[in-house]
Amino acid sequence: MAARQPRAAVPREIPPAMLAAMKQGAIEAAHRAYAPYSRFAVGAAVLSDDGRIHTGANVENASFGLSICAERNAIFRAVADGARRIEAMVVYTPTADATPPCGACRQVLAEFGADALIVCCSDGAADRRYHLAELLPEAFGPQHL
Ligand code: THU
Repeated sequence: MAARQPRAAVPREIPPAMLAAMKQGAIEAAHRAYAPYSRFAVGAAVLSDDGRIHTGANVENASFGLSICAERNAIFRAVADGARRIEAMVVYTPTADATPPCGACRQVLAEFGADALIVCCSDGAADRRYHLAELLPEAFGPQHL
């Protein structure tokens, strides 16, 4: 069996210019959301530890349960692009209040960023900021296998 990799330390903050670029990426991704059923567009941008930003939008399906969230699309895209560590994630919704990620997306993020910074932004003034361990305490992970 392969040795387990130690979890990398995650910086508690990211530079303002990087955060601005992530927000812009999340906003642009939300414009590409495919959400004809809920009409709730979401965009996400994740920052991998090599400094790249990977974006995603929610994609719905007429078979509703097959729809997937913006956050997971962004994370899966990052991994498919070769990333393995996620430092931060921005979630954008074109709403008055910021939207936190759903439980499924929190669990998927935990796999690649055990305490990633999460910034939720909207068209309202106030961002919401969390670390994943706040949103998903006692997370199930590879250490339990
Ligand atoms: N959605 C996301 O993309 N991210 C979330 O964290 C919550 C919900 C999407 C799924 C669905 O397409 C729509 O928003 C309504 O639930």
